[in-house]
Amino acid sequence: MRVTNSEGAASDRYERADESRDAMSARFPTIDSVVDNLREVGYYANRRLATAVFLALKLNRPLLLEGEPGVGKTELAKALAKMLQRSLTRLQCYDGLEQREAVYEWNYAAQLLHIRAAEAAGKGGGSEATLYDSRYLLRRPLLQALQAPTPGTVLLIDEVDRADEPFEAFLLEYLGEYQVTIPELGTIKAEVPPITILTGNRTRELSDAVKRRCLYQWLDFPDAQRELSIILQLVPETSEVLGERIASFARHLREARGTTDFHRVPGVAETVEWARALNALGIVELDPDIVVDTAGVLFKDPDDINGLTRQRVEGFLQASGAFAR
Ligand SMILES: Nc1ncnc2c1ncn2[C@@H]1O[C@H](COP(=O)(O)OP(=O)(O)O)[C@@H](O)[C@H]1O
Ligand SMILES: [Mg+2]
Repeated sequence: MRVTNSEGAASDRYERADESRDAMSARFPTIDSVVDNLREVGYYANRRLATAVFLALKLNRPLLLEGEPGVGKTELAKALAKMLQRSLTRLQCYDGLEQREAVYEWNYAAQLLHIRAAEAAGKGGGSEATLYDSRYLLRRPLLQALQAPTPGTVLLIDEVDRADEPFEAFLLEYLGEYQVTIPELGTIKAEVPPITILTGNRTRELSDAVKRRCLYQWLDFPDAQRELSIILQLVPETSEVLGERIASFARHLREARGTTDFHRVPGVAETVEWARALNALGIVELDPDIVVDTAGVLFKDPDDINGLTRQRVEGFLQASGAFAR
């Protein structure tokens, strides 16, 4: 474990960070190479997102992705880990998330045993230094990521907007310097900075301080062509014609949201699931009845399901037919 502030260790660390950055630049020399390599691991990125990824790798900066549910934020972190052949370390955020679940906590039971053993041996309760030994440290995702062996890990801090503001403030040290400070142990800094992806659904505005430390990218739903590629990849039994209809139908649903009362429009996960369902039902072409009957795959809200009337579906089908090649 590297817990230090000494100059020699620090320069050694920066050299390693430089090395890993240089290796990264050699492997992914252009934005196109990022697009291609992501596609090879099953992720379809547009150029804007690939540019953000390229810069995050090159500049060694955390990347904050915001967008609606189901646009591929979490999936990007998984794909990056595959692309870089690194492990994925995931910190799922939620209301009430505390540092001890995110970073570390002390193994009190083991510390207690240590005290008892020391007492039994007639050595008193053991000194504080031995009690707060790294043996008794339970490492949670952030610390695991900082201490991951070469080649390092991809750290996904998922749905960071669900955590509360104090936790967000706590993240600043990590995001700015890839380090955390543990009162009993000192500062723990990454030897190889984790490739860090934060995601958020904008349930609340993140602080400027977090945004300033990250590169930022807003993710939209994929265009119909990219969504078709995703569907065909994940549900290969789908015919190209049906896949096209699904993708353009979904696109029209999403575009119509401004003029309808849908609470939440389907994400990519839902369209993929819909393709699976339609195949399971032996459907080769969309018609209003089948869309109405399977609305529960696309929507998860009773009002939205009821709102997808036969008449509305006909309108969407007609409009989306015009989009099919
Ligand atoms: N660009 C993409 N390339 C490949 N698969 C995608 C893409 N976008 C979304 N998906 C698929 O959609 C699903 C939902 O995406 P996810 O990353 O969970 O959404 P988010 O985290 O934005 O809510 C994923 O499991 C993945 O199968
Ligand atoms: Mg997600």
